[in-house]
Amino acid sequence: MKVVVCENYDDLSNKAFEVIKEQVVEKPNSVLGLATGSSPVGMYQDMIKDHKENGTSYKDVSTYNLDEYVGIDRNDPQSYYTFMNENLFSGIDIDPNNTHVPYGNTKEDCEKYEDAVNGVDIQVLGIGQNGHIGFNEPGTPFDEPTHIVDLTENTREANARFFDNDINKVPTQAITQGIGTIMKAKKILLVANGANKADALKAMIEGDVNIECPASVLQKHPDVIVFIDKEAASKLSK
Ligand code: F6R
Repeated sequence: MKVVVCENYDDLSNKAFEVIKEQVVEKPNSVLGLATGSSPVGMYQDMIKDHKENGTSYKDVSTYNLDEYVGIDRNDPQSYYTFMNENLFSGIDIDPNNTHVPYGNTKEDCEKYEDAVNGVDIQVLGIGQNGHIGFNEPGTPFDEPTHIVDLTENTREANARFFDNDINKVPTQAITQGIGTIMKAKKILLVANGANKADALKAMIEGDVNIECPASVLQKHPDVIVFIDKEAASKLSK
């Protein structure tokens, strides 16, 4: 696992963007695994800016998102589908038919998505304060495929900021790629910033590989690059 401690959020976003750009320029029909949440937004903004200024094209790129809430409409302002359209897809020349965000709440929905996610060149990840990746909460077996999860109180609290700060409005379940799905990606690119991620990053990078910190599984992946700011790195020993 390569860990790069960056000056600040803009710096880490730009460094992460450079990795994506290099991939897409080298292989125009790359398959990207994408995440929602605050962490990758700066990187998405850099992708949009670069597309507009330098013409980097995403027309042959395919994307597979990690997760989506259960029980809210695709076009709800808080759906991850809407988030991706607003924060990335509408700003680049990607073919909407090539973008995929999981949806549904049945076993069949999960199996269909699991079968579709194939050959991911780079998987973008954020990390939860409790070490979750995707919506794989502590305790999730490492070999789990796409599945339906009950969200923890901690995760619902962290996401209440998107729901008028009202935890009661935050959905209680999500559909998520499993850790097994995520680990199949050829390369993993994780971005994180802020002191509230410092404990999770310490456990991920320096702790034992243990299902209590889902992200610790990344120690077993052969090609992981992590871009974090100084605050997020503040509890690392080296
Ligand atoms: C989002 C996702 C989550 C987030 C994590 C961090 O698709 O899978 O695991 O990456 O909750 O969220 P932020 O970036 O908002 O701190």
